[in-house]
Amino acid sequence: AECAPFAKVGGLGDVVGALPLALADEGVEASVVMPLYGGPGGAVAHRAAPLTLVGAATARLGEDAFPARIWRSDALGVPVFFVDEPVHFGDAGVYFRTADGLPFSHADARFVVFQLAVLDWLGAGAPAVDALHLHDNHTALIPALQRAGRAAADVCALPTVFTVHSADHQGEVSADLWDRLGLPTHDAWRREHGQINAMQAAIDLAGAVTTVSPGYARELASDDTVAHGLAAAFRHAGDRFSGVLNGIDAAVWNPATDPHLPHTYTAADLAGKAATKAAVCAELNLDATRPLVAFVGRLMPEKGVEVLLPGLDTLVRTTEASVALLGTGDPEHEAAVRGLSGMLAADGLGGRLAAVVAFDERLAHRLYAAADVFAMPSRSEPCGLGQMYAMAYGTPPVVHATGGLRDTVRAWDGTAGTGFCFDAFTPDAFIAALREALAVYDDAPAWARLQRAAMAADFSWSASARTYAARYRALTAR
Ligand code: GLC
Repeated sequence: AECAPFAKVGGLGDVVGALPLALADEGVEASVVMPLYGGPGGAVAHRAAPLTLVGAATARLGEDAFPARIWRSDALGVPVFFVDEPVHFGDAGVYFRTADGLPFSHADARFVVFQLAVLDWLGAGAPAVDALHLHDNHTALIPALQRAGRAAADVCALPTVFTVHSADHQGEVSADLWDRLGLPTHDAWRREHGQINAMQAAIDLAGAVTTVSPGYARELASDDTVAHGLAAAFRHAGDRFSGVLNGIDAAVWNPATDPHLPHTYTAADLAGKAATKAAVCAELNLDATRPLVAFVGRLMPEKGVEVLLPGLDTLVRTTEASVALLGTGDPEHEAAVRGLSGMLAADGLGGRLAAVVAFDERLAHRLYAAADVFAMPSRSEPCGLGQMYAMAYGTPPVVHATGGLRDTVRAWDGTAGTGFCFDAFTPDAFIAALREALAVYDDAPAWARLQRAAMAADFSWSASARTYAARYRALTAR
């Protein structure tokens, strides 16, 4: 559903935009297939230009046939194939809402049609492939469609790796849509009102199932709250299931070369970081002499908004720090951010919080660099990329000790570490960790040590790419 820089909503886009390039270093020729949101005249096509028409496909759903064109772009560095199907993907919106904020009229059929079109194209006209790496619920029906023989025989035989980037969104297929798909009934996948859980279908049928950190893999198999009803399915997958930690793309996320920064810098010389802070604070009307705490992320329950907002409120009211917040998400959370900002302004603290309710990749880069402390109190976190970007930019993160956050941040123990962790998912625990961070910030030599350790941490893709490559080879050898 996402591939940065063409279409990105969250970390999924970053991963799909970076992993194929890292796989190339492991001798794997990877290509990406995604919908052409907004069609050939839209912003996605513009970012991926030039596009070459390379094929056609048809998604057959019950009585209906939806024709699609397939375009190729080489702008990423590996081939990206775009499925241009105007009925379901003519609009530029990626999930949930159209570009104009309206609900999609064919919402539940959108990614079903995408998957049918991809399978059809793979059997007729696509370059030959050895394996399919499926990402998240938008691709989760492919193993079931293969099993049911809904594609050419060699396509049905292709091995699959299914990666769960988040179990918060599992993909529900209505009973009606399932019937139109003509797939056999499967009781274990059925939920309320006869809906089919697409993610469970993929967990049960894919050749290998991975998620994006070892810590989240353990939580998914043991804690049904985190797994939202799928813990048994993950356990049942047994040794087909494992956690492979994401990396970050050092060509995009590197403070020494980042074109979005007004001043670049390295661990050896942080002058550019201070200058960036001054410039960004001036832009946001914040006082650059105060410690700056930043949040960059989607305003969704899983990102910890219920702890984040009261925590930041207390932070501004009881410490010297200023806060910069950047994100979009659920309308109710966006409203809560505006409410917080209004309340602080009414109390004369308006100059201490800059809240930008927008999706702004450039400002995101600038905030990772400008901030002193990065706040990431996610309720659960499959991997999390923000904390890794922050560390790479010398901005120690304050994180809830969960999933991939626990796997990637070494908590400061008084002498060493790369960030700060808190255990209980409460505003009090969050604010205590923020206070701990601000106390170390006041101790310049200790803070410098912490920043250098954070910047030295290795979050490159190479180890993970090697693991995925081994997984593909084991499956294709079978
Ligand atoms: C999802 C998860 C996030 C992960 C990303 C990439 O956005 O919520 O934790 O880092 O996918 O795998």
